[in-house]
Amino acid sequence: MSHAGSPKPLMAAKASALKGKAKVPGDKSISHRSLIMGALSVGETSISGLLEGDDVLRTAAVMGALGAQVERRDNAGDVTWHVWGRGVGGLTEPADVLDMGNSGTGARLIAGLLSAYPFFSVMTGDASLRSRPMDRVIKPLSQSGATFSARAGGKLPMAIRGAALPMALTYDSPVASAQIKSAILLAGLHAPGRTTVTEPAASRDHTERMFKHFGVEVEASLVKPGSPVYRASIIGQPELSGKPIIVPGDPSSAAFPLVAALLIEGSDIIIENVGLNPLRTGLFDTLREMGASIETLNTRIEAGEPVADLKVKYSTLKGIRVPEDRAPSMIDEYPILAVAAACAEGETRMEGLAELRVKESDRLAAMVNGLVACGVDAVAEGDTMIVRGKGQPPKGQATINVNLDHRIAMSFLVLGQVSEKPIGIDDASAIATSFPDFIPLMTNLGATLLQVSA
Ligand code: S3P
Repeated sequence: MSHAGSPKPLMAAKASALKGKAKVPGDKSISHRSLIMGALSVGETSISGLLEGDDVLRTAAVMGALGAQVERRDNAGDVTWHVWGRGVGGLTEPADVLDMGNSGTGARLIAGLLSAYPFFSVMTGDASLRSRPMDRVIKPLSQSGATFSARAGGKLPMAIRGAALPMALTYDSPVASAQIKSAILLAGLHAPGRTTVTEPAASRDHTERMFKHFGVEVEASLVKPGSPVYRASIIGQPELSGKPIIVPGDPSSAAFPLVAALLIEGSDIIIENVGLNPLRTGLFDTLREMGASIETLNTRIEAGEPVADLKVKYSTLKGIRVPEDRAPSMIDEYPILAVAAACAEGETRMEGLAELRVKESDRLAAMVNGLVACGVDAVAEGDTMIVRGKGQPPKGQATINVNLDHRIAMSFLVLGQVSEKPIGIDDASAIATSFPDFIPLMTNLGATLLQVSA
C-alpha cells in the first residue's frame, strides 16, 4: 500500500497570490469504471487521462487478477492504459486476496461484480477501508444468490462466493449512493432481464453514462417529474466490445486549488479540463452563492461527460445555508467547503451530512475537530455542520491527524495557505490515493508546502 510506509508530515504556510494554469488529474470515479468496463468487454479498451492514484491502481491490479490484461503505455510522456477484457461473465477466480487499499469505490463496485461469478474471492483493504460498512452492498447483493462472509458489522476482510446463476435485482436504496447503485448495476449486467435501482435522490451517474457509452440498454430518470427519487435500470447480459475512453479531470480534485485561489488574496488561476457532470457540481454552485468568482470557459463534451476550464479569482465570501438536497452532488467536497466557510463572513450551515460519517474517516467529526484546533468556531449538531467565519483567516497553528483520509489532508493544507500561523498534517501519504501530484501542482501555482521531519 503506498501509504503503508512511514508517515510523511507536511506543513502549509501563508502563501502570496496563486497564479498560472493547472491541470488536475483524471476523475477517480470514471477511472475505476473505465477499467472495470474494459475488463467486461471483448477486445481493447484504451483509456487516456486515467487517474494514476493508488485507489485506481488497485482496481487495475484487481482486473488483472480476475483475468483481464491491463497495460500502461508511456509514449514520450503521453500515458495511455489499455485493457483487453474477458466479456460479461468471463472473469476468472483470483489466486490471492484482493487488496483494495483505501478505496471504498473499488471495494463496493468490485463486490457487485464478484457477486455474479460462481467462484471464491476474499477482499481486504487498509485500516480506513476495514472500518467502513460493506453491509450496504452485502444486503442487496445477497438477494441475487451470492454469499458474503464478513467481519462483524459487515466490515472487511470479507469472503465472497458469487451466484452460479445471478438473478436480476430490484432494489430501493435507502441512501443516495453511487457506490451502492453501481454495485447492483454491475451485478445486474451479468443477470438475465432487467435490474432496477432507485435512490432517494440522484447520485453521480457515471456508471449509467459509461454503460450507455458501451452500448448497454439503460433507462435513467427521476421516477416522476418534481420528485427527487431517481431510478436507473438496465438489461443484463449484453455483449460488450472495447471502446476508447477519455477521462476528464476530477472536479473533486479541482476543488482544492480552486478554494485555495478563492481564499488567497490576489490569486487568479485557470484550472483546465474539469469534469462538470451536473451531479458533481454542487460545490461550484455553493461557492458562487457565497460570492466566488468562478468562470466556466471552453465548455465541451468528452466521452459523454461535460468538461470545461475554470477561471478562479480571489473573492470575498459570505456564509450561507447549504440544504440537504445538495449533498449528493458535492458529498466529497464538504471538507474543503468547510475550509472556505471558515474564512467567509458569517455562518455556513451544511445540512444532511450523515453520509460524511462513513467516508475514508468520519469527515464531519474530522473537520469540526480540526477547525476548532485552528481557532475556528465550528460545531456539529446531529448531521449538520455549522462553521462561523469572521471574514478573515483563522489563527491556524495546529497539527491535524488526518487518519488516512486524503481529503482531510488536502483541506487542511489549503487552510494553512491562508491562516495566520502554519498548519501541519501528521501524514501526507494518503493524498496519493486521489491526487498524486497535489504537492507539485499547488507549489507551481505558488503555494508554500514544507516537508517536516517526523
Ligand atoms: C463514488 C461515490 C461516492 C463518493 C466516492 C466516489 C463513486 O460515494 O464519496 O468518493 O465513484 O461511486 P457514495 O456513493 O457512497 O456516496
